[in-house]
Parts: sequence; structure tokens; C-alpha cells
Amino acid sequence: MLCGFFVILNNAITDTCMAMGEWMDNPQSESALSNILPCVDQRTSNQTLIKSKEVVTNIVNVVNQFIYTFANANPSPTDLNYYNQSGPLMPPLCYPYDSNLQDRQCGSIEVSMENASVVWKNYICTKSELGLCNNEGRVTQDTYTQLVAAVNESYALEHYTPPLLSLQNCSFVQDTFREIKTRYCHPLEHDLQMVDAGLGLISVGVMLCLVLWIFYANHPQREGVFVTLFSPIRKRQK
Ligand SMILES: *[C@@H]1O[C@H](CO)[C@@H](O)[C@H](O)[C@H]1NC(C)=O
Ligand SMILES: *[C@@H]1O[C@H](CO)[C@@H](O)[C@H](O)[C@H]1NC(C)=O
Ligand SMILES: *[C@@H]1O[C@H](CO)[C@@H](O)[C@H](O)[C@H]1NC(C)=O
Ligand SMILES: *[C@@H]1O[C@H](CO)[C@@H](O)[C@H](O)[C@H]1NC(C)=O
Ligand SMILES: *[C@@H]1O[C@H](CO)[C@@H](O)[C@H](O)[C@H]1NC(C)=O
Repeated sequence: MLCGFFVILNNAITDTCMAMGEWMDNPQSESALSNILPCVDQRTSNQTLIKSKEVVTNIVNVVNQFIYTFANANPSPTDLNYYNQSGPLMPPLCYPYDSNLQDRQCGSIEVSMENASVVWKNYICTKSELGLCNNEGRVTQDTYTQLVAAVNESYALEHYTPPLLSLQNCSFVQDTFREIKTRYCHPLEHDLQMVDAGLGLISVGVMLCLVLWIFYANHPQREGVFVTLFSPIRKRQK
């Protein structure tokens, strides 16, 4: 009875390990695992990346438009964009991409997203009750905060979209499975053949939980896949 349980368990593990191995070797092909994992194909990733680059470029556009038409302008007191701004001109924000959305180097007068919050601090003026600059400066504290928030947002988009996309195209799942497979699969099969319960069982439980959790978390509605995934076991038992 117990022995039969171990045989089934051993087969289940071997099959799971095989499924992982099969899929890792060939993530694009139709395998038991590729059918249930939510992977975004290369084209969707590419589209997402392009969109995020466009958004970054648009944010930089808005920030720079403000700098050119408000902060760096020298309007007369009757103009709408007048708030007694004066002094050295603020450097505009660097465009990280060119018109083809390829990476580009910042121009000499542009300030990078990393440096903008520090550099622009030097251009803050103190605001009077009327909302005018009391002393030399190009932006008020409020405007500075808004500009830096916009920069932070596009910085985040620029730097965190690619890693997020690599999560989606399954390289993250692949890495996890590779880790599980090399760490647990072979030692486990060995342990179980010796019917050395104890530690072995615990790691089996952990691994199965992890695997089942990944499946369930992603596709609770598709229990059918378990049948597909574990069907070799049934055949072998017969
Ligand atoms: C997206 O696809 C286009 C062609 O379809 C290609 O020229 C471009 O290099 C791709 N971009 C990325 C970031 O993979
Ligand atoms: C930020 O400013 C420092 C000092 O001015 C400079 O050395 C560094 O290259 C700048 N970083 C970027 C990414 O432009
Ligand atoms: C405008 O700014 C200058 C400094 O550039 C300052 O001397 C002047 O008092 C400010 N005017 C008002 C109305 O705050
Ligand atoms: C922008 O990011 C910097 C660190 O990257 C942080 O110190 C600052 O508080 C952020 N500012 C805003 C307005 O989010
Ligand atoms: C997943 O995306 C990353 C980064 O975009 C890329 O380096 C990797 O080759 C992709 N993996 C697959 C299997 O497409």
C-alpha cells in the first residue's frame, strides 16, 4: 500500500520533471507546460516595449514644453506665462530615444533623468503670496515637484518595462523551473528509489505545492490540463 503510493509519487515526480525539462528545452513548442503558462509572445512584448517608449517620449515632450514656454521664457509682466521667472536657463530633459525609438545619447545641454531632480533644484525660486518668484529662479517649489514626479514616472517606465516583459515571456518561469529541476529533480528520484522518506517527502511536498500553485494561480479554470499533464502516469500504471 505504502509502496504503491511511492511508485505513483515517483512517477508523478518523474513526469513533472520531464514536463519541465521538455518545456525548458523548447519553450516555444507545444508541450504540456506551454499550454498552461501565460506567456506573452515576442510580438506582444515588442508592441508593449514600443508603447512604453512612446509614453516616455511623450512625457519628456510635455516636461520640455513646459521648460521652454514657461520656465525659460522671459515674458513681460502682462503675459500669461509671467511669474517673475529670471536667472540662468534650466537645462531640458534628455530624450532617451530618437525618432526611431532607438536608444540615443543625451545632448550636451540636456539633463538625464537620473540627474534632473538634483540639477533642477538649483533653479527653484521662493514663491510670494501672489504666486510670483521673489528671487532669482525659474520654477517654484510646486512646479519643481510636479516636474520631478513626471521624470520619475518616465524613469520607471524606461527601466522597469524590459524586466517586466521578460517576466511575461516566461524566461522567469523558465529560470525557476531550471532551478527546481537541477536542485530537486535528480536528488528526489534518487531518494525515493531508496524509499528514504523523511526529508525526501517534505521536499516532494514543497515541490508539488509549488508546481500545483503555479498552475492553479495562473489557470484556475483549466483543471483539464492536469489530466493532460499527468496522463502518462495512468498509462504507465495500466
Ligand atoms: C520590434 O519589431 C520590429 C519589426 O517588427 C523590429 O524592427 C524592432 O527591432 C523590434 N523591437 C524590439 C525592441 O524588439
Ligand atoms: C549626472 O551628473 C554627474 C555629475 O554632474 C555626471 O558625472 C553623470 O555622468 C551624470 N549622469 C548621467 C546619467 O548623465
Ligand atoms: C522678481 O525677481 C527679482 C529677482 O530676479 C526680485 O528682485 C524681485 O523682487 C521680484 N519681483 C517680485 C514682484 O517678487
Ligand atoms: C523621485 O525619485 C527620487 C529617487 O529616485 C525620490 O527621491 C523622489 O522623492 C521622487 N520624487 C517624486 C516627486 O516622486
Ligand atoms: C524574453 O525577454 C527577454 C528580454 O526582453 C529576452 O532577453 C529573452 O530572450 C526572451 N526569452 C524568450 C524565450 O523569448
